[in-house]
Amino acid sequence: MKTKILKRLRGETDYCSGQEICEEIGVSRTAVWKVIKQLKEEGYVFEAVSNKGYKIVEYPDIITKSEIESQLTSDNVVHKIVYFDETDSTNTQAKLGAEQGEEDGTLYVTECQTGGRGRRGRQWISPSGSGIWMSLLLRPQLNPNHASMLTIVAALAVAKAIQKEAQTLGTQVDCQIKWPNDIVVNKKKVCGILTEMSAEMDLIHYVVIGIGINVNTTEFEESIRDMASSLYVESGIHFKRSRVVAYFTEAFTQYYQKFCATQDLSALQDEYNQMLANKDNQVKITDRNGTFTGTAVGMNRTGELEVIKEDGTHVNIVSGEVSVRGLYGYV
Ligand code: BTN
Repeated sequence: MKTKILKRLRGETDYCSGQEICEEIGVSRTAVWKVIKQLKEEGYVFEAVSNKGYKIVEYPDIITKSEIESQLTSDNVVHKIVYFDETDSTNTQAKLGAEQGEEDGTLYVTECQTGGRGRRGRQWISPSGSGIWMSLLLRPQLNPNHASMLTIVAALAVAKAIQKEAQTLGTQVDCQIKWPNDIVVNKKKVCGILTEMSAEMDLIHYVVIGIGINVNTTEFEESIRDMASSLYVESGIHFKRSRVVAYFTEAFTQYYQKFCATQDLSALQDEYNQMLANKDNQVKITDRNGTFTGTAVGMNRTGELEVIKEDGTHVNIVSGEVSVRGLYGYV
């Protein structure tokens, strides 16, 4: 009911009377009044005029279940939000949920993670109020070998969501993707993605795509200070976190449908390559066998990075135990 009331009020630039809300949603006036009281406590600012009704004039920067749900479109891949004020890790919670039968398209979101996990066993610092820490549970009917491409689908959707929110705020952000799935702004990492899967040889039980976006973070640990940043630090603008989440789900829905239709990235590859950091530039590739340099040409339809080595030979780099960097730093 709270989501319905919030959705009704959000869509309205004019005042909306308590009576109208009761009739449309089919609840009592007392129930509406109680929800409005709760919303006020959460930080929504209302303007109330007698004989006219209510209007929301200010939205708090929160990412609660109803704040996000009230912005989701009906055809969205995400149809359920699980919200925590605090949890260990949304990836861990999504995996637990999946094991207990939670449905495809559930998005786990939290204000704060006490045990946020990054790739390669690293810690992901996730304090309250500063970021978007979320994990999407999917049960795709895909060959497990194709699942790693979902990380790329998500990266593209995050980049688009950031650009769309910047546009909504009347500005622009030069958002790029560092292959395969780090989002960078001004050559600093603002988002990382950790995808985990449970599968058999030819069957996926579930995939969890965990996304961490530094939105308002202003302080970074010594060890990551050179490469990490936030949307606020890089743009000087406060992004509305719930809107970024909603934009992400919209973009992801679009790209995911295209991806599932072909089971590869052919329909996404051009858009991805337009945002690819270091495209046509020199990069340094480090894997188990050592380091070499070459020119990054672009990502292909299976998600590999095409590189031309200095001797003119073409190589396709598969993500995983490999690092790709520009010649002068992290990007
Ligand atoms: C990386 O190392 O770049 C990936 C970071 C992924 C962090 C996100 S935050 C939400 C989700 N929960 C986690 O514990 N990790 C991911």
